[in-house]
Amino acid sequence: MAKKVMITETILRDAHQSQAATRMTTEQMLPMLDQLDDIGYYSLEAWGGATFDSCLRFLHEDPWERLRILKSHLKKTKIQMLLRGQNLLGYKHYADDVVEKFIEYSIKNGVDVIRVFDALNDVRNLETSIKAIKKYGGICEVAISYTTSPVHTNEYFVKLAKECEAMGADNICVKDMANLLLPYTAYELISALKKALKPTTLVHLHTHNTTGTGDMVYLKAIEAGCDIVDTALSPLGNGTSQPTTEALVKTLEGTPYDTGIDLQKIIPITNYFKTVAADLEKAGYLNPNVRKVDVNTLVYQVPGGMLSNLMNQLKQQNKLDKLDDVLKEVPNVRKDCGYPPLVTPSSQIVGTQAVLNVLSGERYKMVTKEFKGLLKGEYGKLPAEPDKEVVKKVVKDEKIITCRPADLIQPEFEKYKKEVAEYSDKTEDILSYALFNEVATNFFKWRLAKKQGVDKDMAKNNNGVYPV
Ligand code: CO
Repeated sequence: MAKKVMITETILRDAHQSQAATRMTTEQMLPMLDQLDDIGYYSLEAWGGATFDSCLRFLHEDPWERLRILKSHLKKTKIQMLLRGQNLLGYKHYADDVVEKFIEYSIKNGVDVIRVFDALNDVRNLETSIKAIKKYGGICEVAISYTTSPVHTNEYFVKLAKECEAMGADNICVKDMANLLLPYTAYELISALKKALKPTTLVHLHTHNTTGTGDMVYLKAIEAGCDIVDTALSPLGNGTSQPTTEALVKTLEGTPYDTGIDLQKIIPITNYFKTVAADLEKAGYLNPNVRKVDVNTLVYQVPGGMLSNLMNQLKQQNKLDKLDDVLKEVPNVRKDCGYPPLVTPSSQIVGTQAVLNVLSGERYKMVTKEFKGLLKGEYGKLPAEPDKEVVKKVVKDEKIITCRPADLIQPEFEKYKKEVAEYSDKTEDILSYALFNEVATNFFKWRLAKKQGVDKDMAKNNNGVYPV
């Protein structure tokens, strides 16, 4: 049965994260917030992901203050954030008390929908987040990291989705960060999910348009009953970002899938963000190449960002001629370590290991600490059993972690609270510090200097180090 399709607008988060190094400021967002609120989106993705880090590190903004400002304007539309499970918005596992507090305060300060995911799809890394989101009254959207491999079948994804639903997910999202999902596969996957999940569970699809298939993926997914899709307004849409909102709204207009969104109401917002995109380009944060179709992912099955990392690593060693060998080695390494989805951090870990295997001339003669950690279970359970011989060679007689990694971490909120006491006793600041210690401390110093009347431009220099 065809039905109205809902849209999550990503202009305030993934669009500029994917195209402009996450550099859109709150000031650049402000003039359009009331109009965005009026469009009738399912939600506005506006917080989390890399925006938190970027606020503190580059923009001299308090991310919590940004959230409160957004909330004061977005009265009708849900604010959505992206959260990496037990890693929160950082790059390591945090203790449960920090995860719970972070979610409590995200919701308290204005987040309505929390999209939570784990790079390995280890549901144990989502447990604490899901419980906290439900406890504090948020809408819990669990995202499955999409990837292709012999173990990542539709059955695998359906089973995973049902598990997440049973754990409390209100929505299930298929998160295709690398734009690997193809239109007809999307049709089958979304059909299978809609059939297997409760009718009240909304199915949400997230893709990018890196390889040029994004719009077709959405259309087939919608025909299969997908409830919500993520799009970005055209000034920061397409390419490495999401397919555009305008094209999809018009495509569905007058069909049984009509979004109910009035294109005429969007156009002034589009026009405004054209000026923002131009400013970001002028400032050097947006390279127009990000809008081009890049078919490498279709050919090599590695995400675009990972391919450019591999090329950089080889270039530094003057070994760019080995690229083909490395690209052939990537699937072997991935198989050996149990087919992790190629998303941060596993994409870097697998890529670097493939480079080492090729350049050293012997597989696993040299291994990174991270690759060993991946095989040891430090990141969570791998989708498939890793190769026994490789584990023996790399891990040797060290202990394999089979429990939930965060079970090994003692509560740590009080420790962070003490460490940051000289700058602040506010819970939001303690959480900023827990995630980005030094970067947050620098921000607190800058904020203090500003408060004491030191001129804003005097208080910062280009290195992000603030004299006080
Ligand atoms: Co994305």
